[in-house]
Amino acid sequence: MQKELLTILALTLLAGTTLLNTTQSLESTSFLEDKLMKEYQLWQQEHGKRYSSFENTHRFGIFKQNYAYVQEHQKRFEAGLETYELGMNVFADISSEEFEAKHLNFKPSNKQQSEQVFRAQGRQIPESVDLRNDGVVGPVQNQGSCGSCWAFSAVGALETAARQSGEKNVEFSEQELVDCVKGGEYESDGCNGGFMFESFNYATTNGIAIKSEYPYVAVAQDCQAKKTKTRFQFNGFVEVESLNSQAYVEAASQHALSVGVNAKGINFQLYKKGIFSSQCDGKIESLNHAILNVGYASDYYLLKNSWGLSWGEAGFIRFARIANKTGQCGVHQDVTYPIYNKNSAAIQ
Ligand SMILES: *[C@@H]1O[C@H](CO)[C@@H](O)[C@H](O)[C@H]1NC(C)=O
Repeated sequence: MQKELLTILALTLLAGTTLLNTTQSLESTSFLEDKLMKEYQLWQQEHGKRYSSFENTHRFGIFKQNYAYVQEHQKRFEAGLETYELGMNVFADISSEEFEAKHLNFKPSNKQQSEQVFRAQGRQIPESVDLRNDGVVGPVQNQGSCGSCWAFSAVGALETAARQSGEKNVEFSEQELVDCVKGGEYESDGCNGGFMFESFNYATTNGIAIKSEYPYVAVAQDCQAKKTKTRFQFNGFVEVESLNSQAYVEAASQHALSVGVNAKGINFQLYKKGIFSSQCDGKIESLNHAILNVGYASDYYLLKNSWGLSWGEAGFIRFARIANKTGQCGVHQDVTYPIYNKNSAAIQ
């Protein structure tokens, strides 16, 4: 009898302790949940995100996963195991699969051969270049939810070529490329992706309007080039020898380069600062985003993105400079720049 009572007592105590433990961990879980919810709400305010309550639950779920991932990454960064940092930026409530489907629809083309090829020649080049210092890089833009990275990369290169030739502070129309580089010989497709070399061909044949006369609206429309007055005519484009890091830096020492990269994965999506060295495959068929090279240093390439100022280093990313064939995320594969001669430029 005594024994039985003791056993019951012991069991009750044990159950009590277990119960207490569960309650405690439930409390700390919900404390963490509250804390994350507050973070999420602050983040929503900062980025102007509002959702229906159903969608909000879904988005909060992804935000939490990304939050945990960023914290883990930060620990590795602080331990010296990563060369770059991640942050809860404007894409922090999007999964990497969704991000890829929505934001990465550039495709490389095997048709872009130009008669003019820039080859490595062992030119003397500066140790580092940042074209921004010369005032020849246009401001960082935001393509929004339109797969027009190709038009932004092309316009970036067109702006630098024109500025280097003396056209001060000129800005061109991405929207014209989105609307007008289609049909006939062109395979570009507005917000569903397109090609920089086709944009350069277009700007050579038709010229391109300045941005203020043909502003960006982030959806494909009918071509309205005829309504614009201030147009700049280009003179073709050059292809930089592919799979050659030396050709790449020699070209980058002189020009802004339109390049394709493989931007797949949560690390590129949530990149905040530092030298991006995330492992990713650099196969030609894996290139899915177009961007603009505007400089380099001994250990990185400086790339200008079109995802607004809040992504990366004020809109830029430093890409690990790797002297192998493909380069970081395939950056040496698809490299072009346009030609602009101020004197022969007919302004229509
Ligand atoms: C070049 O280096 C990158 C980054 O280390 C790597 O992912 C890629 O596979 C390398 N490419 C070649 C052709 O070795």
